[in-house]
Amino acid sequence: MKALSVEEARLHELSKITSEGPGVTRFPFTPEDTRAKCMVRKWMEEDGLEPYEDAIGNLFGRATGDRPGTILTGSHLDTVRNGGAYDGALGVVSAISAVSSLLRRNCGVRRTVEACATVGEEGSRFSYGYLGSLALTGYVDLNATDRSGMTLAQALTQTGMDPALVHTARRSDIAAFVELHIEQGPVLEANGLAIGLVNRVTGLWGASVRFTGRADHAGTTPMDSRLDPLVAASLLISRLPALTVAVSHQARATVGMISVAPGSSNVVPSECQFSLDIRALYDADLIKLSRVIEAEIRRISQETGCASTVKWLYKESPVAMDDRLLKLAAELADRMQLPYRVMESGAGHDAQIISRLAPSLIVFIPCVSGRSHCPDEAVKPEDIRQGTDYLTEFIRRISCDDQLC
Ligand code: HGY
Ligand code: MN
Ligand code: MN
Repeated sequence: MKALSVEEARLHELSKITSEGPGVTRFPFTPEDTRAKCMVRKWMEEDGLEPYEDAIGNLFGRATGDRPGTILTGSHLDTVRNGGAYDGALGVVSAISAVSSLLRRNCGVRRTVEACATVGEEGSRFSYGYLGSLALTGYVDLNATDRSGMTLAQALTQTGMDPALVHTARRSDIAAFVELHIEQGPVLEANGLAIGLVNRVTGLWGASVRFTGRADHAGTTPMDSRLDPLVAASLLISRLPALTVAVSHQARATVGMISVAPGSSNVVPSECQFSLDIRALYDADLIKLSRVIEAEIRRISQETGCASTVKWLYKESPVAMDDRLLKLAAELADRMQLPYRVMESGAGHDAQIISRLAPSLIVFIPCVSGRSHCPDEAVKPEDIRQGTDYLTEFIRRISCDDQLC
């Protein structure tokens, strides 16, 4: 059996740190998050990087250069519930390998280069995601709550951090950010391509939708005299595919969480609340999709007699990645004879937030059958190798690039 590469071995070790199975569940500011960061910090030290954490818990491994402007590379350490071993983690592990390889080869890294592991990108615990990368831009909502009602401020305090200091996570020294990530889709694998160069990242809007009806006896209440919010919700949810495709074939609408109160099998529910995740590559499509869905919710309210509310929790716009980095990346792919495609991302990434601070780029590698956000997430060893080698050479080049700030 072929020996595992350093990256594969590290990804395997990291995937064992989870609060529950199947797959990997690692939410921010949890004991699993702390254990994972300890493991990553140890790897950074072993590889000669200087580890440090910022005030919201992003972990960095620095290789100090001799000229201004930090090149940042990495991804998130958190996962969705029962997610895979590579979403985020691949970018963290490959970034450490890339920076340490440049250090070892002593190839004149002129700028400071840092590998990073960001916190809370997925939004799986608090009401919105990108917590770590947004903090780098100076934005933190300390009042965001998780499902237990704990605020972000309380979670930070619980893990020994001081919420009053999160503003110090803001950065102004980043010259460029590069994120290696699995594609989380089928395009690269289906076309035999080695890497994807992302030119545009989807916008993501998230809402909490509530239908309110009337609790009644399941046995004595005739079907035509109920105010059943779960029926109302199911009417809306069953309409989402048609409403979404009518706006754009690249638009998406997903209900991933739903709850019913009071929650007894012999009680007609009084309330139904669910999450709504909508996406599109252009703001106009997001606005249009949100409007048609809200109009349908109002129509269903009328039809069923159930009141409804829609509370938008976050609205991240679609983002174009940096043209010049894309051009340099395409040139390098040609030089390394790696078949590639410039493509859009239907998944959100830290790079779409950090692009507010500095030119940013996302490099995809294929994942098996395009599956992600599930325990089946898988990556071929040669794709990890190729992606890490490509990232290393790209970081080396831009660390010496005179046109970056
Ligand atoms: O939801 C997303 O697209 C990303 O995985 N946070
Ligand atoms: Mn994800
Ligand atoms: Mn991700």
